[in-house]
Amino acid sequence: MELKQKMIGVLTSGGDAPGMNAVVRSVVRSALYKNIRVLGIRRGYTGLLNQDVFEMNLRSVSDTLQRGGTILYTARCPEFKYDEGVERGREACEKMGIDGLVVIGGDGSFRGARDLSLKGVPCIGIPGTIDNDIASSDYTIGFDTALNTVMDMVDKLRDTSQSHDRCSIVEVMGRHCGDIALYAGIACGAVAILLPEVPFTIESIVEKMQRTLRTGKKHFIIVVAEGVTSANGMGDVHEIARQIQERTGVESRATVLGHVQRGGIPTARERVLASEMGFRAVELLEQGIGNRVVVSRNNKIVDLDILEALNMKKEFNHRLFEIADAISI
Ligand code: ADP
Ligand code: F6P
Repeated sequence: MELKQKMIGVLTSGGDAPGMNAVVRSVVRSALYKNIRVLGIRRGYTGLLNQDVFEMNLRSVSDTLQRGGTILYTARCPEFKYDEGVERGREACEKMGIDGLVVIGGDGSFRGARDLSLKGVPCIGIPGTIDNDIASSDYTIGFDTALNTVMDMVDKLRDTSQSHDRCSIVEVMGRHCGDIALYAGIACGAVAILLPEVPFTIESIVEKMQRTLRTGKKHFIIVVAEGVTSANGMGDVHEIARQIQERTGVESRATVLGHVQRGGIPTARERVLASEMGFRAVELLEQGIGNRVVVSRNNKIVDLDILEALNMKKEFNHRLFEIADAISI
């Protein structure tokens, strides 16, 4: 009796991130290399429920390695948070003959992958989000590109704030995780970095600026993670700029970088990591193994149980924060 050819699905879910296409490309090419068919699922779990899929071949992923966004589109699918939605997902996999699924996204997407795995559809999660907020992985696909985009923008802001002796307050993404703010802050020499992991007051920023002014410095960069200001009851970045100007006498301007951080050409680091992760995910599904995430730990690509990964707590890099505070003065 002839064995049925294996078929896997691949989807991107949650916020898009540069490098997602590089993962999709790797999954498709790795599967075909192993004689496994691949269905591309559009718009995350929404496309799975609607069976909005197409069969992918070698050429489906041509010229995508260097492109930001996701060729599979992405979405947030509220139904998938409930058992009824996941059960419909399982039924859709059965109907379409999907033997396993690669899910590229963040924590929420991993929860969906865990639930579907528990219903018998082997799923592998790959961390794709600019926020770098996946505790189990040292690094998420999209973070490096977003960070370089922010660095580029802040360098440009520095030119103008330096010319005008101003303070630039820059809001970056990351509602619950301050990694973009922390790494961009240190990379751009921000005098202060405001993020959810470290409590702060306007007084402490003003005090540091005054100390710095006395040493002859006349222009400043402050990096702020989105959401952090309202959480601290301070109003938005424009309000912070107003207060800093009032208390220090330094003319201040606020800039919200917004979604520009989610686009752009993925860096070499993203592409290499994405290629490795995609290949590993297919190796696992080839063996019928699911309920795993493929992550980067200590510069190695490893796989972990999804539940174990979801239960990990992300450690904040206090040392880096201290270094930034000490040398950006
Ligand atoms: P991210 O994956 O980037 O964290 P979201 O939190 O928006 O983004 O999650 C993406 C999608 O994953 C959601 O729209 C939903 O379909 C699914 N999802 C989120 N949370 C859960 C959950 N607790 N159980 C099952 N699926 C979930
Ligand atoms: O998770 C990625 C992210 O870009 C966060 O940094 C940000 O808070 C959120 O998504 C914004 O999401 P939306 O696509 O709804 O604007």
